[in-house]
Amino acid sequence: MNVSRRTLLRGGLAVAGGGLLAACSGRPGGSEIVVPTPTPLTPRSGRSVVTKTLTARPTTLDLGGPTVSTWAYDDVLPGPLVRATAGDLVRITVDNQLPDETSVHWHGVALHNAADGVPGLTQKAVTSGQQFTYEFIAPDPGTYFYHPHVGVQLDRGLYAPLIIDDPHEPGAYDAEWVVVLDDWIDGTGTTPDEVLADLMASGSPSGGMHGMGGMGGSPFGDAGDVTYPHFLINGRVGTTPDVLGAKPGQRVRIRVINAAADTIFAVALGDHRMTVTHTDGFAVQEQEAGAFYIGMGERYDVVVTLADGVFPLVASPIRKDGAALAVVRTGSGPIPTPARAAAIRELTGPVLLGSDLRPADSARLPDKDIGQGVDLALSGKMSTYEWAINGAPYGKNEPIAVESGKRVSVRVTNMTMMTHPVHLHGHTFALPNGLRKDTVLLTPMQRMVVELEADNPGNWAAHCHNIYHAEAGMMAALVY
Ligand code: C2O
Ligand code: CU
Repeated sequence: MNVSRRTLLRGGLAVAGGGLLAACSGRPGGSEIVVPTPTPLTPRSGRSVVTKTLTARPTTLDLGGPTVSTWAYDDVLPGPLVRATAGDLVRITVDNQLPDETSVHWHGVALHNAADGVPGLTQKAVTSGQQFTYEFIAPDPGTYFYHPHVGVQLDRGLYAPLIIDDPHEPGAYDAEWVVVLDDWIDGTGTTPDEVLADLMASGSPSGGMHGMGGMGGSPFGDAGDVTYPHFLINGRVGTTPDVLGAKPGQRVRIRVINAAADTIFAVALGDHRMTVTHTDGFAVQEQEAGAFYIGMGERYDVVVTLADGVFPLVASPIRKDGAALAVVRTGSGPIPTPARAAAIRELTGPVLLGSDLRPADSARLPDKDIGQGVDLALSGKMSTYEWAINGAPYGKNEPIAVESGKRVSVRVTNMTMMTHPVHLHGHTFALPNGLRKDTVLLTPMQRMVVELEADNPGNWAAHCHNIYHAEAGMMAALVY
């Protein structure tokens, strides 16, 4: 679909009257944005069709001790892994048994617009009791995830990994683990909707209280708004962690996904160094690290050669108390306690910041002259819990119009004292050094110019992946 310049201008005017209600419901106020009509798809030649049904519904989950009522896909946490090979046709039917409308967004995948899962931009929300089928071809291999794009539902149990395999990759490793990080509050006496309401009532964008624990020397300033009782790896608290088994000397690929709503983590494996091979699906020049940061919505793939014993895999929340923990077991020994795990020396040394990685040559955007420049300025109000892009919250801000076929430079400016993971749908942009990302951390007052190739027309969301910031307005539409 295409939105004409004239339509856009009218859209902008209509949107301006949309009001906060429109922003809070995650839909633009203007009716002029036309959602695309899905077209029939066929897999690439030689590829197959991957089919699945996901049921989103209220359920009770055991987090390895605490039991919580929440909403989840197929009653498991994380939700079911969706795995396909690049070029496959992925066909997923979502059965919405939630008491609320929902949608599913396939985070990081450069799919066609009609399957992107953003109510108001790419589809109508899937109402309670309704089914909706998403069909897309995943063009690029890599580590992705899926989650709703309605309200703060992501901060419930509605998230799951999506892995796209490379048919040509040699796979120079013996085993592979998917490690999903999360901050958890739902069903612990409150819900994410109540957390959002409290933030709105608190009257300040940084009204949250922050523990002094963990990674105090991080570059992120004020890193989150919500105090969480639990941090999870693969749906479990640290006192009864997920145990990942292998043999000593094996090389393991670990795909780390940060599905948290409000928490940046530093990740390390006790007594090991990791080799970072990919971020956000795309290959990097291999980089060794003792620990790395991961913002909400980011993914890092690392390869590790395992020693003999039992080792904590730790995700330490930045500027918050607690830790998420899994255990890597290649030999005998007791399971480390969360306290011992949080104290591993890898977390006290240098921590790799993803934007310092360099791209693999295969991942670079081909050289091209810049055809257009646009702005994405992040701001917040001091008096109310309201976040904005380009001067107004979503629903009141203008869609950003780009020209199809152009190389577009996006000047991203963080005009706040918080760190924001900035995520763009439908594209993997290039940082100034060429690194390909779909989600990038912008530290307080940081500016960064990224480039994207406008080769996937549609209505695309651009937003902060702190789900409370996004829901309080830090989102915009990028359309062509
Ligand atoms: Cu995970 Cu709009 O994003
Ligand atoms: Cu933010």
